[in-house]
Amino acid sequence: MATLPSPNLQVPSPPPAEGINASLFAICQAISSTLELQPLLELILDLTTRELEAPQGSILLIDRESDELKMLASRGLPREVVERGYIPRRGSIAEWVIEHAEPVLLDDKVVSDPRFESIVTGRAMRSSMCVPLQAKGRVIGTINVTRPEGGEHFTADDLSVLQIMASQAAVAIENARLHSELVNTARLATLGQTVSGISHCIKNILTGVKGGMALVEMAFEEADISMRDRGWEMLKRNINRISLLVLDMLDFSKARKPIRSGVELHSLIQEVFDTLATRAAEAQVSLEVDLPPDIPPVLADPDQFFRCLLNVVGNGIDACMMGGSVTVRALHLYRGETAYRMFKTDGVHDYTVLEIADTGCGIPPHLLDQIFDPFYSTKGSKGTGLGMPVTKKILEEHGGTLEIDSEPGRGTTIRFILPQLPDSGTPSQEAAPCSAQ
Ligand SMILES: Nc1ncnc2c1ncn2[C@@H]1O[C@H](COP(=O)(O)OP(=O)(O)O)[C@@H](O)[C@H]1O
Ligand SMILES: [Mg+2]
Repeated sequence: MATLPSPNLQVPSPPPAEGINASLFAICQAISSTLELQPLLELILDLTTRELEAPQGSILLIDRESDELKMLASRGLPREVVERGYIPRRGSIAEWVIEHAEPVLLDDKVVSDPRFESIVTGRAMRSSMCVPLQAKGRVIGTINVTRPEGGEHFTADDLSVLQIMASQAAVAIENARLHSELVNTARLATLGQTVSGISHCIKNILTGVKGGMALVEMAFEEADISMRDRGWEMLKRNINRISLLVLDMLDFSKARKPIRSGVELHSLIQEVFDTLATRAAEAQVSLEVDLPPDIPPVLADPDQFFRCLLNVVGNGIDACMMGGSVTVRALHLYRGETAYRMFKTDGVHDYTVLEIADTGCGIPPHLLDQIFDPFYSTKGSKGTGLGMPVTKKILEEHGGTLEIDSEPGRGTTIRFILPQLPDSGTPSQEAAPCSAQ
């Protein structure tokens, strides 16, 4: 683009060394403490228009993709200009400022200056300043303030103040953009890991479904009833795995408020044992329960609490491989009793402690944190790696905690420590999808 001749600008003096007063310092600090781009631009514009007593102002940034000059924040400008959202670059003051990387201070003659033909004709303008936003030696846009006709002229000192603010603003804008790029990159990386984790799980389950289908087909061809039954069981097992995977993913994907009711522990544990009976029998693992007969019901979300127990007892069975046991014990802690202080309690509510102890392979100390990472599994095609993170999340949503003691070669004990909080009554908005499942 051809270089435009210098407009009718007053050559700016450098920023006065002693001109940075307390309010300017505070402004610069405020600007550099915000990392979200749009709120930052609004803040910059609020502060500059207020400090310079300018009823009108705007921030224009060069769009990196389209190269357009986008108006990302404005004050006091005509609606049609704001709604258009960009400034035609050719012949504009902003373009001149960007080209030359120099500020301009204009007086009312600008209205009749043919070099700025794109300035809205007929708009009365008394005094205006346009300063480049320059970061790392590159002009990224401009900041503009205007006093309409009837107002005072901006002075060279005003221009210096705007320059100081612009230099801080440009660095803050670049930081905010960088921050948002980093956040996006991190988001994409997490999304990539999640998609790959889910795909891996679904692929494994589909292999099981296909295997079951092939068995059933062969059984029909060969009229083999036992093969049909094995194929059918395989299909059922894998369909069940898909539904558990979907439930785990739903649980993991958003915060939920538990809908508490009194859950009777004897029958809950029996239901979990019944669900896992085949798996336990195949692994030759005995499932045992040790409960005080008069233990009060647990105040918990029945579906979610069931799934916590199912996950952890299931892991106990898997850990035992061939032979061993998984025992579920429970304890009701009344406030004030001695045992109450031995657990992580808040001193206010009663607690239920549920302990699931297996005699399995144990977990090496350096993996104790990792087992809560989504999709971390040592079970190859049989694992999803969602059981532990989902269980921990559900317990935390109940205000509880999960503790784990493990000794490699001897076994693992997992403890749910649950405050007996009464139900809030009405189900919350977040909890609604739970009942829709
Ligand atoms: N009781 C346990 N004993 C030994 N290892 C366990 C136990 N519970 C969990 N783990 C380890 O934690 C990992 C993650 O568990 P989980 O999130 O339930 O996923 P998955 O069971 O699908 O592998 C398991 O693969 C296993 O390595
Ligand atoms: Mg598991």
